[in-house]
Amino acid sequence: MSPIKIDHDCARAGALALVPLVCKVTEISEETPDVKAFRVSTLEGKRPFESQPGQTAMLSVIPSGECMFCISAQGDDYLEFTVKRVGYVTEQLHALSVGATVGLRGPYGNAFPYDELKGKDVLFVGGGIGLAPLRALLTYLLDHRADYGRIDLVYSGSTPDDLIFLHDIKNVWSQVPDVHTHVSIYRPCEGWEGEVCYTAPFLKDLKLPQENRAVVLCGGPSLFRTCKEMLLGLGFAAEDIITTLEMKMKCGIGKCGRCNVGSRYICLDGPVFTLSELADLPGSEH
Ligand code: FES
Repeated sequence: MSPIKIDHDCARAGALALVPLVCKVTEISEETPDVKAFRVSTLEGKRPFESQPGQTAMLSVIPSGECMFCISAQGDDYLEFTVKRVGYVTEQLHALSVGATVGLRGPYGNAFPYDELKGKDVLFVGGGIGLAPLRALLTYLLDHRADYGRIDLVYSGSTPDDLIFLHDIKNVWSQVPDVHTHVSIYRPCEGWEGEVCYTAPFLKDLKLPQENRAVVLCGGPSLFRTCKEMLLGLGFAAEDIITTLEMKMKCGIGKCGRCNVGSRYICLDGPVFTLSELADLPGSEH
């Protein structure tokens, strides 16, 4: 399989939006007790801007502050952000109602290499809120189903309350031909009839061949490390494993210096990298 090429120049080459667009929240859905999905449109009811799977945007709650989020979905007239309540700004966001005014600037960063994945099998590996950035690529592949091979999703969380998009996984994605979803939790839980297993051994049990298969991996540090080691141990090449470092971004425009990994700015060169690219960056813990 030829190495996957990722475009790292698009953000540096493009004009970066600095001034937030005034937008409104048009729909809110509760994914889990601490995760909500927000659909955002312009005041005229249009999609704020076009984005590609993997890109991010800065969403602001006026006047509380702003945070960077991946764009987890987009429609003709909205962008969607799936947000876990983890701090002050996300708490303020969770307190909003439909119709609330928010600020939005972006899109930022590069995209998952969806053209490079054409003709390949694709294995998605995610944990908890880590499925949010993967969702944009997964739904793109499903919308262009004939261009891609077998798709597998291996997704886990500590308990069922950590699993987002369960409705889509069960009722939409797994119904598409040659799409296979594998969901587990780590802690036994009353009422859960599925797998109870950590993600890395779950991956191993699937015995998926590596030939012509790319992996897209996103999750917390422990899941990331254990799954990376498992995938490499199973024979997947680091150049065929793609991830996103969007959690490292803050300003999105190369100004705050919070996103450096070695010599790279994640906001301008990423957030999407292959593991082999990350391994070449001095100071990268990935
Ligand atoms: S996020 Fe601020 S410099 Fe990259």
